[in-house]
Amino acid sequence: MHKGVCWLDGRLLPLERASVPVLDHGLLYGDGVFEGIRFYAGVPFLLDQHLRRLRDSAQAIALEVPWTEAALTEIAATVIRAFGGKEGYLRLILTRGEGPLGIDPAPCKTPRLIMIASELELVNPAARARGIRLITATTRRLPLDGLDPRIKSLNYLNQILARIEANQAGAEEALLLNGQGHLTEGTADNLFVVQEGRLLTPPAIDGALPGITRGLILQLAEELGIEAREQSLTPYDVYRAEECFLSGTGAELIPVREIDGRRLKACPGPVFQRCHQAFRRAIQQHCAERSDA
Ligand SMILES: Cc1ncc(COP(=O)(O)O)c(C=O)c1O
Repeated sequence: MHKGVCWLDGRLLPLERASVPVLDHGLLYGDGVFEGIRFYAGVPFLLDQHLRRLRDSAQAIALEVPWTEAALTEIAATVIRAFGGKEGYLRLILTRGEGPLGIDPAPCKTPRLIMIASELELVNPAARARGIRLITATTRRLPLDGLDPRIKSLNYLNQILARIEANQAGAEEALLLNGQGHLTEGTADNLFVVQEGRLLTPPAIDGALPGITRGLILQLAEELGIEAREQSLTPYDVYRAEECFLSGTGAELIPVREIDGRRLKACPGPVFQRCHQAFRRAIQQHCAERSDA
């Protein structure tokens, strides 16, 4: 049984009773976009940025969003209230809607909005505390001129194939390379490495989703006086890194202990710990400001 609630076609339902018609093109073809948003103290974290990215993703696949930002914010508040818990995860899905069988989206006249509030534990707390193991997957991230990674679409099959590789190797997560052998990101999280005290993350142009958590960490690092920048990285750069960690809404920040069987020098390392503390403070501050409003 899944604890949670779901807003579907304008109605609130218990999560286990929410289902989508089989002719929805989100189901048939992965034709749609989504966002994952954490809420803390009942406040959706960085909701405005997530709604902006949702709109950009929808625009990029020529999917009209008939809901205003204010309407989506209101629905999010309703769903979080109905969920009851103060902390959890909100999944916002927008599909092309229903249409006949056949790939053409033109007959799909009404986009479908789904919002789920639920619990989410991506990594068990023990693995999170000691650091996770990564592999570099043989499955490549799709090229920019294939499906632009900045579009957060419902097509996650290559990330899923990479995750299957991680499972088979007994690792917790996989990194995907692009066609040129540069690291892009994890299956649903961004990559950071520390080299000579500098914080580095692959540029979006190499094939990473410009994660909202990633953006926040780059900003917090600057405030902390840690030099941080985007830089193309190869597996070799991670093997010889001082530290490595992942960031994402679902993941939050997760330290990495090992990659492709190589132990990293520090886990959790000092840069991770400083970023992590600053991240927790940013969450508290954001929520305190919003709950006063
Ligand atoms: C492919 C991918 N990369 C990175 C991220 C992390 O992005 P964010 O921090 O915005 O959640 C996600 C999760 O949304 C993702 O699906």
